[in-house]
Amino acid sequence: MAEDLNIATGTKTEQYESLFPQIKGLLEGEPDLVANLANIVAALKEQFGWLWVGFYVVKENELVLAPFQGPIACTRIQKGKGVCGTSWEKEKTIIVADVEKFPGHIACSSLSRSEIVIPVIRNKQVVAVLDVDSEHLNYFDETDQLHLEKIVEMISFT
Ligand code: SME
Repeated sequence: MAEDLNIATGTKTEQYESLFPQIKGLLEGEPDLVANLANIVAALKEQFGWLWVGFYVVKENELVLAPFQGPIACTRIQKGKGVCGTSWEKEKTIIVADVEKFPGHIACSSLSRSEIVIPVIRNKQVVAVLDVDSEHLNYFDETDQLHLEKIVEMISFT
């Protein structure tokens, strides 16, 4: 059983750097995907306190809600729809400074103002996306992108 998460203070980079070895430790020796996704979103939520953080996993050509922390959310998203479906289609991280300015944004929570979505790519296919929402405008940047992309690399999807 894991110890309590050690919550770091300091810059965003320092906070991510403190999380990496801890997330690695959480994943070590645990082959179950749901267990691992659940612990990753719990660790991120605890460290950063974002409004919503969670995974959508590709199942039968749809994104289906997977472990998350935050308010209840829509369960299925089609390819090309919303920020998540667009990230899946383009196979790229998308940072949205103001969700009201993103055509087709899917509002799961009316509190969400900005968002970042990271695709998880294995064997050249998107297998999931990591979605993070903030109640603040313009909350995510390249620092989040860099570190969240590294975190999703750690997950084994086999
Ligand atoms: N806003 C997302 C939908 C998922 S929720 O934010 C949890 C989108 O536009 O794809």
